[in-house]
Amino acid sequence: MVSRMSENLSLSMRICIVSLLLCTGFSTEGPLIKSLDLDASAAVFSVDSYGAKGNGVSDDSQAFLAAWNAACTSSSDSIFLVPHGKTYLVKPINFNGPCKTVHLTAQISGKIVAPADPCKWNPKERSVWLQFSNVQGLTIHGGGIIDGSGEKWWAGSCSRDTSHRCLNVPTAFVLYSSSNVHLRDLTFQNSPKIHVQIALSTHVQVENLQIVAPGDSPNTDGIHLSISEHVMIQNCTIATGDDCISIVAESSNIQISELICGPGHGISIGSLGKYNTKDTVSDVVVNGASLSGTQNGLRIKTWQGGSGYAQGIIFQHVKMINVSNPIIINQNYCAPSSSCQNQPTTICNNQSSAVQVNNVTYTDITGTSATQDAIKLACSATAPCTNIVLEDISLQLSNGDTASSLSANVQGSSNGQVAPPVNFSSPSM
Ligand SMILES: *[C@@H]1O[C@H](CO)[C@@H](O)[C@H](O)[C@H]1NC(C)=O
Ligand SMILES: *[C@@H]1O[C@H](CO)[C@@H](O)[C@H](O)[C@H]1NC(C)=O
Ligand SMILES: *[C@@H]1O[C@H](CO)[C@@H](O)[C@H](O)[C@H]1NC(C)=O
Ligand SMILES: *[C@@H]1O[C@H](CO)[C@@H](O)[C@H](O)[C@H]1NC(C)=O
Ligand SMILES: *[C@@H]1O[C@H](CO)[C@@H](O)[C@H](O)[C@H]1NC(C)=O
Repeated sequence: MVSRMSENLSLSMRICIVSLLLCTGFSTEGPLIKSLDLDASAAVFSVDSYGAKGNGVSDDSQAFLAAWNAACTSSSDSIFLVPHGKTYLVKPINFNGPCKTVHLTAQISGKIVAPADPCKWNPKERSVWLQFSNVQGLTIHGGGIIDGSGEKWWAGSCSRDTSHRCLNVPTAFVLYSSSNVHLRDLTFQNSPKIHVQIALSTHVQVENLQIVAPGDSPNTDGIHLSISEHVMIQNCTIATGDDCISIVAESSNIQISELICGPGHGISIGSLGKYNTKDTVSDVVVNGASLSGTQNGLRIKTWQGGSGYAQGIIFQHVKMINVSNPIIINQNYCAPSSSCQNQPTTICNNQSSAVQVNNVTYTDITGTSATQDAIKLACSATAPCTNIVLEDISLQLSNGDTASSLSANVQGSSNGQVAPPVNFSSPSM
């Protein structure tokens, strides 16, 4: 996640130091889920028919690309198939459209693994591993496993040069500039960086994903949305080392439900507005989530000096279990510049412009906080947060003690029972 590298760098560096420990501890085998029945009327383009070995050692990239191109240019309904029961090693691939096929399916029932050694990656291809781009109408499913082989990336074993790491660590899976995509019934694991990114896309439905990486793996967000609209994420279980779901840039009409999250950093809107940029995130609904042992729960984070807004956000029916910052808004964020050589310098001089945070409702948020201040609403004096509504909140400390709250420059109101209570600067609406 580009905008968060500086924060996470120190973690990466610490991970470097414990690299040897991390290198050995993970099994790449997981349970293979039974493959689904193929649609009988569709033409099947199996990677095996295009020469894939599926032995986990040979490079099957060309076979994948050839099978995809055949499926994508077929005029009948077609299925790009990665068969069940085998492991396919592939290098970075762009599954590009537009496709001629009206009903196109990618059925991933086997296991796909990335090259494990960062040094084996072409330096020019280190930003994305598997990308689907410019496709209109696609179902990606099949019960398979997509494994980013991230261990050595996390450990930094290719190079101890941290600027190298910062420049290019691949995201495992990207859906780019696409629409009407249904992504479901898959396991993503051990990405070098973000597991699933949805960028410049609209009308995307994400369902029944399992996303898993160690809690201390750096920058391994579960699902990262940027410049995307009409995205629905439901029934996903995400346990990684960074945000379970993060939403940035210009994104709107996002619905998240039945999420199980943790370990990880929780659900994050932002960061927004870094390097004085304009970001606009609106109409986000989180309806039904359980967060356990996460670093944050429901977070909105914007940089001072930015512009745009985060507005029209509803968080409801969320259960917290020992979450470190269950409800947190930081609208005034600033951090010293990172040591990554490719990043502009951040200046923290109390810049007065801010990303507006408006119309955010928290309803039925219950459970336990790992820190004393279960609610932290830190807004800017020059551009306060407005229309912040808390209703039916019940957060205690994990040891049963009463939690407290912190708030600054927050306009809004409390309805029903709100524990811990929050002080607002002035009444809302
Ligand atoms: C939710 O996802 C899990 C696997 O990730 C699956 O077993 C279950 O059937 C899904 N539930 C629904 C209602 O689809
Ligand atoms: C506040 O946000 C909610 C959720 O997106 C939306 O339905 C509502 O219209 C917004 N209200 C105002 C006053 O902007
Ligand atoms: C709660 O979380 C804190 C901080 O992550 C951790 O130190 C503690 O062991 C956790 N407590 C329980 C009961 O899980
Ligand atoms: C920013 O504001 C804080 C609190 O008002 C103040 O303590 C600090 O000195 C200011 N920093 C700069 C660089 O102006
Ligand atoms: C709320 O404001 C009152 C009056 O200023 C103060 O006594 C109380 O400590 C504040 N409570 C919190 C949670 O900040």
